[in-house]
Amino acid sequence: MKLNIAVLPGDGIGPEVTAQAVKVLKAIAMEYNHVFTFNNALVGASAMDATGIPLPEETISICDKADAILFGAIGHPKYDDDPSATVRPEQGLLGLRKTFDLYTNIRPVIAYEDLLNKSSLKIKQIKGTNILIYRELASGIYFGEKNFSNDEASDVCAYKRTEIERIAHLAFKAAQGRKRKLTLVDKANVLASSRLWRTVVNEIASEYPDVTLDCMYIDNAAMELIINPCQFDVILTENMFGDILSEEASVIVGSIGLLASASIGNKHAMFEPIHGAYTKATNKGIANPIASILSAAMLLDHFGLYDEAALIREGVDKSLKLHITTPDLNTKYDNISTSKVGDFIEDFINNPDETNLN
Ligand code: IPM
Repeated sequence: MKLNIAVLPGDGIGPEVTAQAVKVLKAIAMEYNHVFTFNNALVGASAMDATGIPLPEETISICDKADAILFGAIGHPKYDDDPSATVRPEQGLLGLRKTFDLYTNIRPVIAYEDLLNKSSLKIKQIKGTNILIYRELASGIYFGEKNFSNDEASDVCAYKRTEIERIAHLAFKAAQGRKRKLTLVDKANVLASSRLWRTVVNEIASEYPDVTLDCMYIDNAAMELIINPCQFDVILTENMFGDILSEEASVIVGSIGLLASASIGNKHAMFEPIHGAYTKATNKGIANPIASILSAAMLLDHFGLYDEAALIREGVDKSLKLHITTPDLNTKYDNISTSKVGDFIEDFINNPDETNLN
């Protein structure tokens, strides 16, 4: 298969981890005779430093022509402290989501057997966790009207029925292929937008009689996710609740450096780790590249390259089993760098039966 992949490493640790994902994709292309081409483009603080804006036209054009976008991370503390700033690195990411209408963000949360003791939660609580979070990504409070003055500020959370319907169908279909349980997370006891979510999702549920639908308030879900994560199969939720819940879920997995995501629209798709730029760790070789590498696996799944994606995941599993991980997870070795993890998974793809730590 030929794939044209736009690579947007972004800020902080983004370039280091994305380089490992590209390395792994190149190994897959070699092994399976695919032709993957990679075109780099600027986004975020690095784009602001170079061009003054977080999402340059050239980046939009490269992404528009690509089959898929591989995204790194975004943000820099130097832009965090001015509350009235109107141009921010994050607008690069939000602009991509909006421009390409990437309305469905899928975030798998899996408690790996080999990492159960890395979580600060009890093993018996988290063992077996396997959740898919469907987060609405192109609307809601992130994109509603905003006003800011020194005395008053507001962000509007608005949803249209059609925006809820399109992601809800995808979430129900995902549940059909899993444990057939869908949990809608909202705040319908307080928010009108949540009441629309509940109405629409309940209506759609009748088209998926084999899926059990549960509705849960966000405050309760935040607690249930920690005390009994195994009760969840697919979680469907709006933009901001999904942001918060998925970051919370990283506590189950053991490190936020393991959580990958796919952001899917009708024509475009972007793949990115859920972690941020982690600026303090930039160029120290300590950033965990697994979330980026697993995002590359989701990219391959998106194009039906299931064996290829599975091989990457096997490589990741083996790296975890052998403790070939960055310091966020490692207590056994203290010298495993970001690129060493990438090299290991690349070697595994080249030679799955013989890869060991050397
Ligand atoms: C994420 C991030 C982004 C978000 C930020 C960087 C704008 O937290 O992808 O989860 O809030 O969506």
